[in-house]
Amino acid sequence: MPDARPLLLFDSGVGGLSVLAEVRQRLPQASIVYVADNGGFPYGTKSEAEIAARVPALLGRLVERYRPRLVTIACNTASTIALAAVRAALDLPIVGTVPAIKPAAERSVTRAIGVLGTDATVRQPYVDDLSARFASDCLVVRHGSAALVELAEARLRGQPTPDRAYSDVLDGLLGQPGGERIDTVVLACTHFPLVADRLAAVSPRPLAFVDGAAGIARRIAYLTEGQDWPAESPPGRAVFTAPFDPPPALRDALAARGLPQIEWL
Ligand code: DGL
Repeated sequence: MPDARPLLLFDSGVGGLSVLAEVRQRLPQASIVYVADNGGFPYGTKSEAEIAARVPALLGRLVERYRPRLVTIACNTASTIALAAVRAALDLPIVGTVPAIKPAAERSVTRAIGVLGTDATVRQPYVDDLSARFASDCLVVRHGSAALVELAEARLRGQPTPDRAYSDVLDGLLGQPGGERIDTVVLACTHFPLVADRLAAVSPRPLAFVDGAAGIARRIAYLTEGQDWPAESPPGRAVFTAPFDPPPALRDALAARGLPQIEWL
């Protein structure tokens, strides 16, 4: 029996599209509802209390409306702050996104890794915990950047984003004590893989950029193993939580990622 229930992916903006790309590769038949909480964007400059109050309530509404089989919080900020509360409130599998510190520590030769996330993510105890568990023999240098989130949003809207803006972000990481030793950078915000090529282009030396998207897609495939999917993947939907008319470049970017339908919550 074909099962039409979608996968729901959730982020504050376009960042979760970096996760969606991996999910599409692994589960091409899945129907997708992609939610951008533009009404709450940006998350990274908000307090823990604001995120903790907003995200579980909003996901509750979304689950009621779209009846997904599984929810993915494709956002490090929301996951590191509210994953436990969302799991406690909702009776379906919830996959979170956490900074890929473990794979970064596994590949670092210099034993110095950078964690580039939002301000809210890099200050989370969750990051201390991951560093202690998986990178205890590494120097872990963190940098929070709201600017890089805005750059990713702007790029997907087709706006110009100057090289200088990307090098300022990298300077904020590599300019810290021990930063000159970093060989691997965790992209601990789902927006950042969307601009990783630009970061690499302005980097003063080759750096490896690591993110968690492939691991999330594997986890979703594992949790939905044996389930039926529609014979043909239906057109995906992009849902915005506040009225917003996406500019043509963003509509194209969404359509190119299998999200031709746009709606508002
Ligand atoms: N994409 C989000 C993350 O992974 C947050 C971006 C924001 O709203 O600040 O952390």
